[in-house]
Amino acid sequence: MVPLTVIGTGYVGLVTAACFAEMGHPVLGVDRDREKLNLLRTGTCPFYEPGLDALVAKHVGSGRITFTDDLIHGARASRIIFICVGTPPLPDGQADLSQVEEVARQIAEHADGYRLLVEKSTVPVRTAQWIKRTCALFRRSNAQIDVASNPEFLREGSAVHDFLHPDRIVLGVESDEGRDQLLKLYKSFTCPILVTNIATAELIKHASNAFLAMKISFVNFAADVCERVGADIGQVAEGMGFDQRIGRAFLYAGAGYGGSCFPKDVKAFMRMAEEVGVEAGLLREVDRINDLRIERLLAKLREALWVINGKTIAVLGLAFKPNTDDIREAPSLRLIGRLAEGPARLRLYDPQAMGRMREVFPAVPGRIEYAASPAEAAQGAEAVVVLTEWEEFKTLDFETLKRGMRTPIIVDGRNMLDPAEMAQLGFEYYSVGRPAIRHAF
Ligand code: UDX
Repeated sequence: MVPLTVIGTGYVGLVTAACFAEMGHPVLGVDRDREKLNLLRTGTCPFYEPGLDALVAKHVGSGRITFTDDLIHGARASRIIFICVGTPPLPDGQADLSQVEEVARQIAEHADGYRLLVEKSTVPVRTAQWIKRTCALFRRSNAQIDVASNPEFLREGSAVHDFLHPDRIVLGVESDEGRDQLLKLYKSFTCPILVTNIATAELIKHASNAFLAMKISFVNFAADVCERVGADIGQVAEGMGFDQRIGRAFLYAGAGYGGSCFPKDVKAFMRMAEEVGVEAGLLREVDRINDLRIERLLAKLREALWVINGKTIAVLGLAFKPNTDDIREAPSLRLIGRLAEGPARLRLYDPQAMGRMREVFPAVPGRIEYAASPAEAAQGAEAVVVLTEWEEFKTLDFETLKRGMRTPIIVDGRNMLDPAEMAQLGFEYYSVGRPAIRHAF
C-alpha cells in the first residue's frame, strides 16, 4: 500500500482521498479550512455526493484517512502528493492558479527526498511546467521534485463510481520514476491506462470536456431548428445516436450545461488556444449557444404567459444536474435572476440544492419563496418550469399539482416529461426542440 497526501478536500480531493482509501491506501487529506476538517473528522461529508459520505465515514472510522491543516506535515508525510485545490475562474475567464502555486512552493520548501506532485485539479495546459519551475526556485537542497498530471473525469452525482470504474486513466509523466509510481498506484484497474507526456495529459482533459460541451451545444442548436420545422429533437438525437461514431450520450437538449467544469473549461480552453495563436471560434460558439439557452426558456414562458411580470412561477430543480446539491453555473441561477427582475413571484423547489440557493437568493416573502415539495411550489402558480431532471419529478402526482395551479402550464427545460401524457392530463406543455402542446383557449 502506498501512503498518499491529497491537498484540498473539495469535491475532487475528497473523492480522490476516499476512493484511494477504499483501495487500501493510507491517505492524509490536507485543507486549510479547519471547520471543514472538524466536520470530516467526524466522518461527515460537507457536501452531497451519493456514496461519498459512507466511504468517508468508513475510512475515518478505520483510521485509513486522516486530516490535517498542516501543509508542511502533508509535504513530509508521503512521496506521492495529489494537488486537488480549487482553480476558480477569474473575471476574465482565466483559471486562478494562486492556490496551486502556493501549494507547490510550500511543498518545495518543506519536502525532503523524492516527491511526486500530481495535478488532479483541472488546470490550463503547461501548469505542470509552472509547478516545476516554482519547485525548482524554492526547493530545499535535498528535495527531488517530480511532477505529473493525472486528470480526473468525475461526474458529480456519480463521482465515486466514476473514480472506481473509470473509462480510462490518463497519466502524464516526465520521468520513469513518476510513471512507475503512478502505474503501481493504479495497478488494480482493468481499464485502459494511457501514459503520455504532461502537456498531452492536460490537453486530453480539456479536449474531452470541450468536446462534450460541444455535443450539448450542437444538440441545443439542432433543437432550435427542430422547433421551427416541426421535428422532434429526441428522435433526431436517437437517430444520430445509433451511428456508433456519434453515440447517444450528451445529446440531450435542454437548458444547457452548467456546473463547475464545462462552462469554465470551455472558456479556459478557448483562451489557451488563442494565447498560442489558434483561432477558437468553434468553442466561442459552443459557449454562446449555451449562454442563450435561458433566453430560449424565457421566450417559451412569454409564449405561454404573455406577460411575466407579476406572475407566480414555480421552478422545480435548482441544482445544475440531478443527484448533486451543486448550483455552480446552474441554469437556475440565471433564470431566477431574470425572472426576479421581472418581477415575477418565484416559488422554488429542489430535493438537495435549496440550502445553497438560499445563500444566493434569500427568501423574500411574496417575491422568492422556497417550498417543501413540488406540489407546494406549484400552489397558485401560473407556470411550472422544470430545470433539473430529478428522478422524483418523473413520478409526481400531476393531477394534484395541476389542481393547485392557477393555470396548468409546464415549461420542461430538460425534456423529461412525456408530451402525450402531459396533454392527456390537460397541461399546456412546452419543452425543448419538440412541438409545444398549446390549447386554443
Ligand atoms: C463533467 C464531465 O462529465 C466530467 O468528466 C468532468 O470531469 C467534470 O465535468 P459534471 O460537470 O459533473 O462532469 O456533469 P455532466 O454529467 O458531465 O453534465 C454537465 C452538464 O451538462 C450538466 O449541466 C448537464 O445537465 C448538462 N448536459 C449533459 C446536458 O445538458 N445534456 C446532455 O446531454 C448531457
